Amino acid sequence: MIALGQVKLVLLGPPGVGKGTQGARVAAHFSAPHISTGAMLREAVDRGTPLGRKAKAIMERGELVPDDVMIGVVAERLAQADARAGFVLDGFPRTVPQAEALDRIARERGHHLDGALLIDAPVETIVARLAGRRTCPRCSRNYHVSMEPPRREGVCDADGAALVQREDDREETIRERLNLYCHKTAPLVAYYRGRHELIEVAGDASPDEVFARIITRLPENGRVPDPARL
Ligand code: AP5
Repeated sequence: MIALGQVKLVLLGPPGVGKGTQGARVAAHFSAPHISTGAMLREAVDRGTPLGRKAKAIMERGELVPDDVMIGVVAERLAQADARAGFVLDGFPRTVPQAEALDRIARERGHHLDGALLIDAPVETIVARLAGRRTCPRCSRNYHVSMEPPRREGVCDADGAALVQREDDREETIRERLNLYCHKTAPLVAYYRGRHELIEVAGDASPDEVFARIITRLPENGRVPDPARL
C-alpha cells in the first residue's frame, strides 16, 4: 500500500477528460499535494507575474508553454517541502522532453514514480465536458453546468465566488488543444507503457465511478499491479 503523503503519480489524458477532477480526489485520498501546472499558470496570469505574462497568450491560443519554462516551474514546485515525499502531478509532463526532465528530477531526489495514470474517454464526451465547464476564479474548483452543477447556479459552493468559463474552453481553442494532445502528449502513453508504469482507467462514467476505478488500480507496494491479476 502507498503510505499517506507518499504517492508519486502523474496524470495523463486529453484536455477535459477529468484530470483535475480526479487529481484533486486522489491527492486528498493520499494527503498529498495536487500540483496542476494549468492551475499554476492560470494563477500566474491572474497575478500578472513574468511567468503569467509569458503564458497568457499561449494558453488562450490553446498552445503549449515552452518546455524549458515548464520544467523550471515544476522543478521549483517539487522542491517545496510539501511535495518532497509525494505528489499528484496533473498536466505535466505533456511532452517527451518534459517526461525526461521529470525522470532526471526524480532520480536526483531518489524518487520512484508509482505510475502514470491515463484517463481517457471518447472525444464527444470530452468536448461536452469542456463546453459545460465552469470554474471558480478564487479557489479553482471546477463544475459542469449539467453534470456537476453547483448548488446555486453560477456560484461556487466553497466560497460563493461567481463562476467563469475558461478562455481556452472556446470551440476553436478546444480543437487546437485536442490536436496538440494527439501530437505532443499522446506519445507519453507509449513512453510509460514501455516502462510498465502506465495505469489506464476509462473516464467515461460519473466522477465517483471513475474515482473508484482509479483507487482499485493504484499500485500495491509501489508497483503497478500485474494486469493478469486484475
Ligand atoms: P490544463 O489546465 O492542464 O488543461 P488540460 O490538460 O487541457 O486539462 P483541463 O484542465 O482542460 O481538463 P481536465 O482533464 O483537468 O478536466 P476537468 O477535471 O477540469 O492546461 C491549460 C493550459 O496550460 C494548456 O493548454 C497549456 O497552454 C498550458 N500548460 C499546462 N501545463 C503545461 C505543460 N506541462 N506544458 C506546456 N503547457 C502547459 O473536467 C472537465 C469538465 O468535465 C469539468 O466541468 C468537470 O466538472 C467535468 N467532469 C470531469 N469529470 C467528469 C465525469 N466523470 N463526468 C461528468 N463530468 C465530468
